Amino acid sequence: MIPLSDNLLRWYRAHARVLPWRGHPSPYAVWVAEIMLQQTRVETVIPYFERWMARFPTVHALAAASEQEVLMVWEGLGYYSRARNLHPAAQIVVGEHGGELPRDLPSLRRLPGVGRYTAGAIASIAYGLDEPTLDGNLRRVFARLFDVREPANMPVGEKILWELAAKHLPRGRAGDYNQALMDLGATVCTPRAPDCAACPLSGQCRAYALGVQEERPVLKPKPAAPHYTVTAAVIRREGKYLLARRPQKGLLGGLWEFPGGKVEAGESLESTLRRTIREELGVAIRVGAPFGIYRHAYTHFRFTLHAFLCYPDGDEPRALEAGVLSWVSPSELSAYPMGKVDRQIARRLAADAV
Ligand code: ADE
Repeated sequence: MIPLSDNLLRWYRAHARVLPWRGHPSPYAVWVAEIMLQQTRVETVIPYFERWMARFPTVHALAAASEQEVLMVWEGLGYYSRARNLHPAAQIVVGEHGGELPRDLPSLRRLPGVGRYTAGAIASIAYGLDEPTLDGNLRRVFARLFDVREPANMPVGEKILWELAAKHLPRGRAGDYNQALMDLGATVCTPRAPDCAACPLSGQCRAYALGVQEERPVLKPKPAAPHYTVTAAVIRREGKYLLARRPQKGLLGGLWEFPGGKVEAGESLESTLRRTIREELGVAIRVGAPFGIYRHAYTHFRFTLHAFLCYPDGDEPRALEAGVLSWVSPSELSAYPMGKVDRQIARRLAADAV
C-alpha cells in the first residue's frame, strides 16, 4: 500500500495554492496567518493579512502598538478576541522569548489565543516539527478517508481524527503534509459535492468506496441560534455622536458602539432605549426618529437592531457599564474600531454629514 502522504505530497507540489503567508519565511507571519485563519476563509483573510504585515511587520511592531490600532486593522474580520489575544501574546514573545516565537509546543500553547490546532500548524509550518494539526478541513478529509462515524465535533470523534492525522504524518514533511490537507479540504474534498474525480486520495478513501462521502463527517447538530431584538441610540449633541467602548471581556470586547440593549418581553423599542440608556449612562434621553433596521448573525445568536436618533436631556452621560465614552464628530468616526452593524451606522452618519 502506498503511504497516503506520497500521493498527497505529489498532488501538493502541483496544486498548492499561492498564498501570501507561504512566501513569508518568518514564524511571526505564519503565526499571524494561522490566528486569522481560525474560523475564517482564506479569501477573506488575504487582504487582512497583507494590511496587517504592512502595518505590523514584526512582532516588535505589534507589541509596541496600542490595542485600538490593533483592533482597527482587525475590524471586519470578526471574532475580535483573536486580535485582543495576539497583542498581549506579542508582548510575551518580546518580553519573555527575546522577540522570537517559541519553537516548542508547550511554550506556543501558553501564548494567548494559541490552542492545540494553531500550535500544531505553527510548529509544523514555521519550524518543520513533526506535529499534526486538525482544523475543519482536516477533520472532513480524515473522516472521509477512514469513514469515521463518530461525530467530528465531539471529543470522541476528535480524538480518533487527531490520531489519524498523527499516524499518517510523514517524518520531516509535516508542514507540507498539513498544508496539503488544508488545500485538499478547501478545493477538492469540499463539504458539499466533493470533486472525487480530481482527488489524489480517492483510491484510498473508504467513504468514497462506500459512496458515503457526502454523509461524512458525521456532525452532532448544534442547537438553533436564538434571535434577539435590540436597540441602539444614535445620541447627537452639537454635531457630535456618543460612542461607548464595550468592556474588554466578551463579545466585541474593546470595540466602540452606539449604546443600547436588548428588548425584554412586552417592552416597546422606545422604552427599551430609555431604560438601557439610563442603566448604561445614567441619563434620560428623548427618542427621536428611527434611523434604520440592521440584521446580523454571530455563531451563537442572531439579532435585529433598531437604531433611533436620540437627544440627551441635560445631564452629562457617565460610563456606568461601558469602559469609556466619547463624543465623536462624523469625520472622526472612522478612527474608532467597531463591529459590522455599528460601522454601517457610523458610515451613514459620516456620509450624511458631508
Ligand atoms: N487554513 C488554516 N491554515 C492554513 C494554511 N496555512 N494554509 C491554507 N489554509 C489554511
